[in-house]
Amino acid sequence: TIEAIVAREILDSRGNPTVEVEVGLDDGTIARAAVPSGASTGAFEAVELRDGDTDRYLGKGVEKAVQNIEDRIVDQLIGYEASEQRLIDQRMLDIDGSDNKGELGANAVLGVSLAVAKAAASSADLSLFRYLGGPNAHLLPVPMMNILNGGAHADTNVDVQEFMIAPIGAPTFREALRSGAEVYHALKSVLKKKGLSTGLGDEGGFAPDLPTNAAALDLIAEAVEKAGYRVGTDIVFALDVAATEFFADGTYTFEGTAKTADEMSAYYMKLADDYPIVSIEDPLAEDDWSGWQGLTASVGARIQVVGDDLFVTNPQRIARGVAEGAANAVLVKVNQIGSLTETLDAVDLAHRAGFRCMMSHRSGETEDTTIADLAVATGCGQIKTGAPARSDRVAKYNQLLRIEEELGDAARYAGVGAFPRYRS
Ligand code: PGA
Ligand code: ZN
Repeated sequence: TIEAIVAREILDSRGNPTVEVEVGLDDGTIARAAVPSGASTGAFEAVELRDGDTDRYLGKGVEKAVQNIEDRIVDQLIGYEASEQRLIDQRMLDIDGSDNKGELGANAVLGVSLAVAKAAASSADLSLFRYLGGPNAHLLPVPMMNILNGGAHADTNVDVQEFMIAPIGAPTFREALRSGAEVYHALKSVLKKKGLSTGLGDEGGFAPDLPTNAAALDLIAEAVEKAGYRVGTDIVFALDVAATEFFADGTYTFEGTAKTADEMSAYYMKLADDYPIVSIEDPLAEDDWSGWQGLTASVGARIQVVGDDLFVTNPQRIARGVAEGAANAVLVKVNQIGSLTETLDAVDLAHRAGFRCMMSHRSGETEDTTIADLAVATGCGQIKTGAPARSDRVAKYNQLLRIEEELGDAARYAGVGAFPRYRS
């Protein structure tokens, strides 16, 4: 039974404030959760409440969200069983009353929602992945490691936000992570040798200036080989283009030239011919539904087309994407929709429609590792949580190592089965 809830303002990985919540139960259990925050946020995301008081943290304080938890949520949730997740989340939605959590703030609601789940798991003496996923949860996700950062996550000329490596050929998650870390180190020495910057972007990947976006893939391919792995079998590639960021007035400004959705699609098809790309996220802008439809029709059988800003983990937008064939996979971010229940509903909806799901961090993160457990609980088979470096990113990968260890012989690594392109 929930006895106490405490909220506070803490710092995220970018040095911006975010919400942390602790939930205490009458059996002595105390659990804690922290809320992530995006930079290339979608226009249709649930509202992240910021104070706007420029005297504190450049207006980014979250004291109002903390206050909302203390004044408007705590009293309403005392006495609930922590396992009554759906009822608790629904109660918060009712208190909020808006359709985008703009009243209480999605950061307030999500902090409580995740801390409640962790308290319930702990009180039942279960790991979070086991509590959320049940007795059959056993699939370890492919880590989609973002080793070269561009777009809104770096101050460089690279348009594509994320260049990810996916070690699909590894036998276990542990070995997948090792190969990713080795390639990361190899990439650093490749960049150094070429006189390119080894500075880092927001998600821990390297952030050099480059002549073209494809040049990033050449550098990564070189790093994969240098590390002793085979491009296209051991390790394949994935992109998050985050195209909304360079879309305005119906035009994509990519590599310095104005492009239509059709021209962007042609570019992606060529790129997928030249490189072993298994997945492209946000190839087009968040409202370019017809562009998405066209791209999915032409490459969807081969390449995973992932909606992030397009879907914002919102069941209504996912349902539209399913109906229109506007993508074939959903990026899942707990803070885009703002509660655990709605996140699980979004994954459920996607899976039942035959869409794949990729569990995801935000570019602003904390030491919270809930998404690692969620990836295994939902059996989604893919997680992206940045580079295999920097503790805000590695915390999630390390939690997956622990989960794999706990599962022992029952663990299975999603590997090559996660994507259609190289499935044998
Ligand atoms: P964000 O980036 O957290 O800054 O939105 C991550 C993504 O676009 O997937
Ligand atoms: Zn994205």
